[in-house]
Amino acid sequence: MENIIKDIDILPAEEAQACEFKTTEEENTGKQKKLYIESYGCQMNFSDSEIVASIMKKNGFDTTSNFEQADVIFLNTCSIREKAELTVRKRLTQFNTIKKARPDLTIGVLGCMAERLKDKLLEEEKLVDVVVGPDAYRDLPNLVKVAEEGDKGVNTFLSREETYADISPVRLNTNGVSAFISIMRGCDNMCSFCVVPFTRGRERSRDPHSIVKEAQELFDKGYKEVTLLGQNVDSYKWSPEENNKARLNKQEEDVSEVINFANLLEMVAKVAPQLRVRFSTSHPKDITDEVLYTMKKYDNICKYIHLPVQSGNSRILDLMNRTYDREWYLERVAKIREILGQECGISSDMIAGFCSETEEEHQETLSLMDIVKYDFSYMFFYSERPGTLAAKKYEDDIPLETKKRRLQEIIAKQTQHSLERNKLDLGQTQEVLVEGTSKRSEEQLKGRNSANKVVIFPKGNHKKGDYVRVKIVDCTAATLFGEVLS
Ligand code: SAH
Ligand code: SF4
Ligand code: F3S
Repeated sequence: MENIIKDIDILPAEEAQACEFKTTEEENTGKQKKLYIESYGCQMNFSDSEIVASIMKKNGFDTTSNFEQADVIFLNTCSIREKAELTVRKRLTQFNTIKKARPDLTIGVLGCMAERLKDKLLEEEKLVDVVVGPDAYRDLPNLVKVAEEGDKGVNTFLSREETYADISPVRLNTNGVSAFISIMRGCDNMCSFCVVPFTRGRERSRDPHSIVKEAQELFDKGYKEVTLLGQNVDSYKWSPEENNKARLNKQEEDVSEVINFANLLEMVAKVAPQLRVRFSTSHPKDITDEVLYTMKKYDNICKYIHLPVQSGNSRILDLMNRTYDREWYLERVAKIREILGQECGISSDMIAGFCSETEEEHQETLSLMDIVKYDFSYMFFYSERPGTLAAKKYEDDIPLETKKRRLQEIIAKQTQHSLERNKLDLGQTQEVLVEGTSKRSEEQLKGRNSANKVVIFPKGNHKKGDYVRVKIVDCTAATLFGEVLS
């Protein structure tokens, strides 16, 4: 679920992390006040910022891309690693100067850091006026009002039901071609290293009708690709009871059967053959053959699976509480290859230097990589997070230099595999959905193939949003280069 920078050469994970945030864009519809949001972390967070913008828009705010013109600044934050939090802290000190010059400015911290630190954040960061967790965004207009009246506003209530299903997100930073749709919130997995279950609360699935409706609306507006988002999409489940409990639109039909992720995927794929469907993240313990067969059945479901392994060693996987072992994982990958073939893109997340990891165990991560040959990976060294199971139970005993060295070995291997995998595409004809012009040249277009790889090719008569048949003629570890066939 990490945010993705793919059309630049692979950066060391740390650097890629540090430079990533997204901001709102300029929108002038004559509203009284201006809102600026800066979003950090995963796609889920970016998707949430769109919900936040939608809520604020209804309450008198236009968005701006310039924080100096804003009446309200929100930082939608991430807690996944220490570095993510330090980046936000640093950013807050930068906002200090503007706040001093303009005391009427409201500064809010949203998202996972808000949830983790709650009102402690108000004590630690004096300039912050509101602290709002991921399930309390409907309360934002009210809390901003409280702040405008000179008080501080905090709401970090975590809900068992909130899915913001009825809120139509204001699309931010969009290329007009692809959009995210959140299909669930929270996570019940309790991986020992992970802060998400604490910051995002219990897992809950969103009403499938509202998901299909959102996909249809996006398609009607000209979007060509949707990515269904959840921390563990394979555990998506919508049952008749839930439907009756939380049904938003009473006119809608009752759901008589349980809808699982494979069913949902099929429902979204049927919206239109011209609408590509992607999803993230798949959990190795939950991904079913039914999902793989559904992917195979529909041409518009992209052949790409983000299947984070974290470690290639079964003892470490057990300590991580991932609830699968090396063999189980490799069996799932073999099944993907059997059903969807070599063309299916597979990517992973990797953590180097988890508590007590030996050199041999680290080698097993490298050897697993040699077997799977990922197209790409998001790679990190272990960062202890307060309050997690690992922080309570295990000692963070691998020296930083060792963690960094192991990470470098993982990155080096991944770069080699990315190039190897990309070379397999040479000479192939692939369908590419154009997302815009390449950063390098206005004369080149940039898009993605089904396996989620970036393809660059000469513009010709094509434009954003077109499906183009491209022959792959060259590649680097990060990018494919092609020639247009049609
Ligand atoms: N739900 C997804 C992961 C979301 S977090 C899944 O289960 O795969 C994204 C990635 O951040 C994780 O896959 C993991 O590789 C990394 N990560 C999470 N906690 C971390 C920590 N404490 N230190 C280092 N990396 C971490
Ligand atoms: Fe974190 Fe595990 Fe949930 Fe992913 S599945 S969000 S790593 S607890
Ligand atoms: Fe996402 Fe970071 Fe929260 S990865 S769920 S924003 S901790």
